Amino acid sequence: MSGNAHVLYSYINLPEIKDNASLVFLEEGKHITFQIKRVYFIQNCNDKLDRGHHAHKKTIQALFCLKGSVDLYLSDGEMSTTVHLKSPTEGILLRPLVWHEMKHMTKETILFVAASAHFDEKDYIRNYQDFLSYIKDAHDFDE
Ligand code: TYD
Repeated sequence: MSGNAHVLYSYINLPEIKDNASLVFLEEGKHITFQIKRVYFIQNCNDKLDRGHHAHKKTIQALFCLKGSVDLYLSDGEMSTTVHLKSPTEGILLRPLVWHEMKHMTKETILFVAASAHFDEKDYIRNYQDFLSYIKDAHDFDE
């Protein structure tokens, strides 16, 4: 980990009801602070598949690993960290303008994501150099 990596994400803990099964739930406005416009899930990955490699300009996402595990590499261009997700009850809130890569997903892994916006390719920054330029321009504009 480098820098104060907790600025890149925060943990979301979900309740679990355990009886003869495990029931985990999430509610908008309670566990998820943003309005959920879309959910998607990624599964059946080839071994050692590496996904992501992009940042979003505006979209906020909450990520939960429902089965198996995943390593999430996160960077804002200065700080970086890797978060290991392995439980449906402990996910992360990923703010916009954080470069993310999903690593070490296996055929077992099911990654569930709730997003604050409908799918829009224009919200993606898919090239790391473009990402660095975008955040530099955003910071210059703030000053
Ligand atoms: P992408 O977000 O690049 O996947 P990953 O982050 O796992 O590498 O999306 C892969 C493809 O799926 C891309 O063509 C866009 C499409 N897609 C949708 O149509 N809707 C969605 O909600 C998502 C997440 C992706």
